[in-house]
Amino acid sequence: MVKKLWNGQSTPTIGLAPMDGVTDAACRFIVDRYGKPDVIFTEFTSVEGIERGIPALLQAFIHHKTDTSTIGQIFGYTPQAFYKAAFVICEMGFDGVDINMGCPDRAVARKGGGAALILRPKLAQEIIGAVKQAVKDWSEGKKLEDSELHNEIITYVRTFQEKMDIHPVRYLIPVSVKTRIGYDRITTEEWIQYLLEAEPFAISLHGRTLKQMYRGKANWEEIGKAAALAEKSKTSLLGNGDIHTYNDALDKIKIYKLNGVLIGRASFGNPWIFQNKTAPLEKRLATALEHCHVFMNLTPDSHFLSLRKHLAWYCKGFDHAAHIRDQLMKVNTIEDVEEILSTIPS
Ligand SMILES: Cc1cc2nc3c(=O)[nH]c(=O)nc-3n(C[C@H](O)[C@H](O)[C@H](O)COP(=O)(O)O)c2cc1C
Repeated sequence: MVKKLWNGQSTPTIGLAPMDGVTDAACRFIVDRYGKPDVIFTEFTSVEGIERGIPALLQAFIHHKTDTSTIGQIFGYTPQAFYKAAFVICEMGFDGVDINMGCPDRAVARKGGGAALILRPKLAQEIIGAVKQAVKDWSEGKKLEDSELHNEIITYVRTFQEKMDIHPVRYLIPVSVKTRIGYDRITTEEWIQYLLEAEPFAISLHGRTLKQMYRGKANWEEIGKAAALAEKSKTSLLGNGDIHTYNDALDKIKIYKLNGVLIGRASFGNPWIFQNKTAPLEKRLATALEHCHVFMNLTPDSHFLSLRKHLAWYCKGFDHAAHIRDQLMKVNTIEDVEEILSTIPS
């Protein structure tokens, strides 16, 4: 079956995986600019937090204007809260809603969200249904003001729309799921079958169980089994886990007959991976500095601290790189960064 991905193309998608604490607005801007992946995801955001009316959480949904498909990711355990949060994503101008059913974090899983939903497939189906219903209601004209969200959330969204000049076009934006191959043991086929019954637009599958966290190797044979199941459905299947290079991504797509893959950690300090390029040191250092400026522009209220790791990731493979990285882990301003980078001989 020919399947179109978020960007309307039927060619295999290579996207940037969602990563909490990493793929913030500035990171996505830089990856988009230098990598041009086919799709990018936000960090995950709690639907129960949005329902409680905590506008600070929506910082994760700040995004730049781009032709690249940009998907808002949410997590939680309450269908009603998912319904409301989906409205926020629609109104903020995203090209899709992604539901996290893969996070292994104890704090998330203990409450029943993230990968814990693998143990409650009926609830997972209900959640997909609630998000689809929200997108449908929104596409048919239901207003944000009628979604029973707190006023603080509505004000945040309206302010964002105005500032970024966003006028979302009402259509059925795709609802997708990102998950793992099992909870404490591999249950890929059983679990994927449940998800397919709810007909998500796409499933991104990380080839590890919750119990594995990030240990061991991603199991691509299991991802292949899921792809075989999804092939007969309308749902696209993207594989994920331990992809190190662009060619690795192409190989995985071909071998396991996938509609695409997501790349996570291999993109750290390396947005060029999506173009199958390596950047010379000079370019990487210039990009590190640009990353700082974009961060200050897009998210001036965020703490500079969250930039430090990105800066360190750009600085590899030259004499005394470890010393420079140590110094970068202490910076607080763009001037600090400029001073340190200027000491690197070109
Ligand atoms: C720091 C970090 C944060 C992550 N946060 C999220 C998240 O918010 N949502 C999500 O679905 N997956 C999250 N993941 C999982 C990644 O999307 C991806 O599935 C995982 O890193 C495996 O892919 P990789 O080997 O290409 O990195 C996170 C992973 C890392 C390393």
